[in-house]
Amino acid sequence: MRLRDPAPVVPDGGPTRLGDLDVDAHLRDPARKQAFVTPMFDRIAPRYDAFTRLFSFGMDAAWKREAVAAARRDGHPVTAVLDLACGTGDLAVALARQWPAAQVEALDASPRMIDAARTRLARQAADAAPRVTPMVGDMMQLPQATASVDVVTASYGVRNVPDAAGAVREMARVLRTGGVLVTLDFYRPTGALWRALFLGYLQVAGNLVGWLWHRDPVVYGYIARSIDHFMSDEAFSALLEQEGFRVQSVRRYLLGGVARHVAVRR
Ligand SMILES: C[S@@+](CC[C@H](N)C(=O)[O-])C[C@H]1O[C@@H](n2cnc3c(N)ncnc32)[C@H](O)[C@@H]1O
Repeated sequence: MRLRDPAPVVPDGGPTRLGDLDVDAHLRDPARKQAFVTPMFDRIAPRYDAFTRLFSFGMDAAWKREAVAAARRDGHPVTAVLDLACGTGDLAVALARQWPAAQVEALDASPRMIDAARTRLARQAADAAPRVTPMVGDMMQLPQATASVDVVTASYGVRNVPDAAGAVREMARVLRTGGVLVTLDFYRPTGALWRALFLGYLQVAGNLVGWLWHRDPVVYGYIARSIDHFMSDEAFSALLEQEGFRVQSVRRYLLGGVARHVAVRR
């Protein structure tokens, strides 16, 4: 699946409601998922940070602080860092501040998210800006050279791509042996009752905010649906092991609805 699909489902900024589409059909089909996901993130990019704060009751900022703290390479210099699905660049800036000698590449498929990251760097992160390079790109086909990166991070990234295994393979390819991967994401809870409550809440709250802010419930209702189409945190650990990582730790939040994985490239 190429990023610049010749026929995006929603023209840039166009009037088409994403909710008019069969979302589940797009999420089920790897050949169509990206053509839904990128226009959706383009549309919500300007309000993404406010939404994330509101929707997570501020927990997202704490989870990200912990993810940055977990992204350590003890005993090794960290000079090259790659933040995938970087969104508006909050994690990339925090990583640059953690390693003042490192260059941080921040990659995302959505051109408008990358615009927002550039705005953040210019307005709020002049200290980090010279060492953070935002770029439009596809985390399933990374432009970085093999074994060229010390630390890879991805927050809420893997769930959004059509081919999670392909993305993990690319992370393994670009990391040096001993390099560290830190991911943070929503996962499908394994307990049926908690899954129903968790996804039910996300669906209702997401639909409401999507309608109030964009007159398009699906732009945030999408989160619950994408989790339901995704895997559990245990299955993600197994995928990491299968694709060349040793899982070092898994920190679960919200009873496994969210998890942070730290893994080392074997
Ligand atoms: C939920 S946002 C997460 C943004 C940011 N990492 C954060 O934690 O706030 C998911 C991001 O994944 C990006 N994305 C989706 N498919 C992608 C792909 N194939 N390659 C790179 N980024 C992708 C979207 O454009 C979006 O910015």
